Order: sequence, then structure tokens, then C-alpha cells
Amino acid sequence: MSDPTMGDYEVAEAVAPTWAQRAPMIEQVCTPVREWMVRELRPDVAELLGEGGGLIASDFSPTMLEAARRRGAERGVENVEYRVIDAARIELPDDSVDGVLCRFGYMLMPELTLALAETRRVLRQGGRVALAVWGAPERNPFFALVGAKLVERGHMPPPEPPPAPGIFAMASPERTRELLTAASFDDVRTEEVALRFPIPSVEEYVAFVADTAGPLALVLRQLPAAERAALQAELEEWFEPFSADDGFELPGVTLCAVAS
Ligand SMILES: C[S@@+](CC[C@H](N)C(=O)[O-])C[C@H]1O[C@@H](n2cnc3c(N)ncnc32)[C@H](O)[C@@H]1O
Repeated sequence: MSDPTMGDYEVAEAVAPTWAQRAPMIEQVCTPVREWMVRELRPDVAELLGEGGGLIASDFSPTMLEAARRRGAERGVENVEYRVIDAARIELPDDSVDGVLCRFGYMLMPELTLALAETRRVLRQGGRVALAVWGAPERNPFFALVGAKLVERGHMPPPEPPPAPGIFAMASPERTRELLTAASFDDVRTEEVALRFPIPSVEEYVAFVADTAGPLALVLRQLPAAERAALQAELEEWFEPFSADDGFELPGVTLCAVAS
């Protein structure tokens, strides 16, 4: 069973080193989401660059932040300040940033309402947040299949439905809009952005999830080899509908939102 005493901070710290190794693959798969978010924030970004401003890259996990710093250095990105920040307690003054971009973060936060209110507080008047979260589980077999199998085989309890935090906690566009509106964002727009996950083999898929997927990763890592092999055999059958020339290709849907 998964360790119920582990909080989301401990999970992020535990997964960060292997997440960093997988970052190039994650960036490749998530290109459409990144492009959507940057496009929606472009007016703010242009203004910021024009005034010689900078970017604060943040995460509450120091290890995740360190990975971001390394990637930034590899790419020669300058003008970035890397800061450990808990989204529910942002140590920045009111009205101090032009735009906020948060990919695959908010849905995991137990203090989501507070985090969105903090985001609005630090944004200047008219400044925008662009966010991405995962869409409905039935449209995201990449995470949902292995999650369902781990529950079925007794390795973890079924996920609690929203508002409990989790991969799919903000999948409903209505709820996401309501949350943003409740945090005093007036102008809210959501849009689905589709992704494709190329998967060479089920074995590689399980290894990738064990390296990256938060609580699921930690459950997978603890499985005895025989149980992991049995899980993979079952997944082979479930993956059949997603066969492609080069292994498998799973579809995915994200919910993106922009609000000011
Ligand atoms: C799925 S990862 C996404 C990482 C990165 N944003 C990306 O898109 O590649 C989720 C991240 O949210 C961070 N996180 C979760 N709760 C947080 C909070 N309350 N404040 C700041 N970061 C948080 C975790 O540490 C983790 O790095």
C-alpha cells in the first residue's frame, strides 16, 4: 500500500530526481500545452521583457527547483530568479507580478482555494494567470489505466473525488471556472488542449510512471518484481487498443485556463 503519512511535499521531493531525468520527454509531450500557455500570457511577457523585468521560477520542492535551475543553465536562460515558494503562501507583495504560469500544479494542492487567492493577490490589476491541469480520467488513459490497475490489485485505495487534491481534481471546466471566479478572477476562459504519449513498450511505460507520477510513482517503486511483472502483463492487454507502429500511442487531454 502507499504510505498515507507522506504529504505532497515529501512526494514531490522523492520524485524530483527521476522527474528531472525525464524532463526532456515531458517537455516534448507537453509542447502543445506549453505553447498554449505562453501564447495566452504573451502580452504580459512582452511588456515585462520590454521593461527589462525578469522571471521568478518557483516550486515548493527545493529539489524540483534545483532541476529547473539546471535546465535553465543548460539552455543558457538568463534573467530568471529561482525561488522556493509555497503557492498557498506566496512571499511577494500585492500587485507585484505581471503574469503567472502554472503547469500541472494547482490540482495537487490541498490549499487550492488559498493558492488561487494568493495568485490573484500578487498579480497586478489586469495581469493574467495561465494554468494547465489534467482533463477527465476516461480521456487520460496514460495515468488512469495504471492508477485503476493499482487500485484493482490492492496496492492503493481508490482516489478520493474532488475537492480532494489529485491528478484529476480540476478536470471539470465548470469547477475550475468557479474556483477562479471565487478567487476574484473576473475574466476566465478555459480550453482543452490534446496531447499524445508515444510509448515504446509497457515496460518502459511503467518505468516512466515510476519515475514521474507523484504518488503513483511511489506505489510502483515499492512493488516486488513479480507483482510488477504481473501488472505489466495486465497492462499489455489494456494497451492493445492503443497499438501503434512503434509500440503504443496514448491520447491525453489537458484543461487549460487563462484568467485575469
Ligand atoms: C506534476 S509537477 C509539475 C512540475 C512543473 N510545473 C512542470 O509542469 O513540469 C507538480 C509540481 O507542483 C509542485 N507543488 C505542489 N504543491 C505545491 C505548492 N503548494 N506550492 C508550490 N509548488 C507545489 C510540486 O512540488 C511539483 O513540482
